[in-house]
Amino acid sequence: MSNANTTLYRQVAQDLAADIEQGVYLAEQKIPSVRKLSKQLQVSVSTINQAYALLEDQGLIRAKPQAGYFVRKGVNDEPVPPPVSQGGQPKAVTKVELINHILENVNKKSSIDLGCAIPNYSFLPYRSLQTHMQKVTRFNMEGVFNYEFSPGLESLRAQIALRMRDVGLRCHADDIVITQGCSEALHLCLSSATQRGDIIAVESPCYYGFLQMANLRGLKVIEIPTDPNHGISVDALKLALEQWPIKAIMVTSRYSNPTGGSISSEKQKQLVELARQFDCQIIEDDIYGELPLDSSALSVICEKGPVNTVIKTHDTDDRVMYCSSYSKTVGPGLRIGWCIPGRNKKAVIQAQRFSTMATSSLPQLTMASYLQNGHYDKHLRSLRQMVTENIKLFSQTVQYNFPKGTRLSVPAGGFILWICMPENVSSIELLHRAQAESISIIPGDIFSNSDQFNHYIRLNCATPWNEDVKHAIARLGEIAQELEGENKC
Ligand SMILES: Cc1ncc(COP(=O)(O)O)c(C=O)c1O
Repeated sequence: MSNANTTLYRQVAQDLAADIEQGVYLAEQKIPSVRKLSKQLQVSVSTINQAYALLEDQGLIRAKPQAGYFVRKGVNDEPVPPPVSQGGQPKAVTKVELINHILENVNKKSSIDLGCAIPNYSFLPYRSLQTHMQKVTRFNMEGVFNYEFSPGLESLRAQIALRMRDVGLRCHADDIVITQGCSEALHLCLSSATQRGDIIAVESPCYYGFLQMANLRGLKVIEIPTDPNHGISVDALKLALEQWPIKAIMVTSRYSNPTGGSISSEKQKQLVELARQFDCQIIEDDIYGELPLDSSALSVICEKGPVNTVIKTHDTDDRVMYCSSYSKTVGPGLRIGWCIPGRNKKAVIQAQRFSTMATSSLPQLTMASYLQNGHYDKHLRSLRQMVTENIKLFSQTVQYNFPKGTRLSVPAGGFILWICMPENVSSIELLHRAQAESISIIPGDIFSNSDQFNHYIRLNCATPWNEDVKHAIARLGEIAQELEGENKC
């Protein structure tokens, strides 16, 4: 298929989608037949067929045998986001066994992997990385084979410091510590800010890794109510800080995992102010921050724009510890992360020297060379476009196939869908039945110490869209309907 043809059928599909969105064609209304539209637009029948197939994939229209194409019911309905969660009391992490069990199962190879929140390699700049890896192994053998002691490769830190200016953060290479992914960054920051028995505050739901880390360090966790769109409740956090001696607030600032919600710049300032007032530290996870979606393309289902600052941007007394990595944008296997630990820098570097001692040199040199080359922004633009398209397709497919009453948090960034099913659908049971058909998902249970997300699931949308994925999501919807029926009796 030529490029011109590819663009043409997409253009036709886009124009029709816009007509549907603007109500030119209403739900259940017939749209022009393939032949009529091909004549009207003076394009080939096959172009219209391709455009209609795409609109079907996007869930906007459906074919009725012998009758033509119709706008789908409910197509203009915006998904209802999940409700604001409930908070709790500080307690030790109780879900470690469950988290281990689920992750062990999810990490086994499934034919359709919608579980792990990692981008499929086809979304990543692997060819470019290959070139840079070859370059550094050819021209910098000494560097590749030597230790790169904490705080890590200076040229990489300098590149990261430059990029931090995009979020209004003026830091220097010396402020940055390179780590084994965001996980090590979070671990080091958490251990420098807390001691056994301390209490930390997290969003509810939060990335399950926060719960694992808290458990490992013998910390208690208090969950703070969170709005799936707008993040952690500052008011609820203030109440918790008034009541408990909270040592650190661990929070994902932009496009949180699993809700996709972000904290606005205004709220980021309030968080810093609260931390100052109650003398605690903030451990900020911004791993999805470079992945805002194209909100204009998602305007039907999502009207949230990018957040161009991070919590650390507003930090005036060095109490925010910023953590991130290239796992979601360049490749999780590189294990390149970093933190800006502020006042805890010395403690963080010392803890790293005493534990891993140094981060692998080859990925650091490769990443520095790749960033210097200036292709990263171009890659991010195409990644955002691919993910935006997928989020649209995935969320529409969920809307059409999951039981009535299912609520859906469509993110403004990142590549995760957070789905709230009717209360009598157990997400663990859904996982078991889906795994029997080689489809993996992550059940909501592991994102909280509480049981309030037992009917939620998380789907990874950074996987190439095809018929198998579409059928897998539809099948998940069917199983959810079966479970709902069974549990009514
Ligand atoms: C919010 C969040 N933080 C941290 C991590 C861990 O990142 P890394 O693979 O860079 O250690 C993940 C991975 O899924 C994540 O979703």
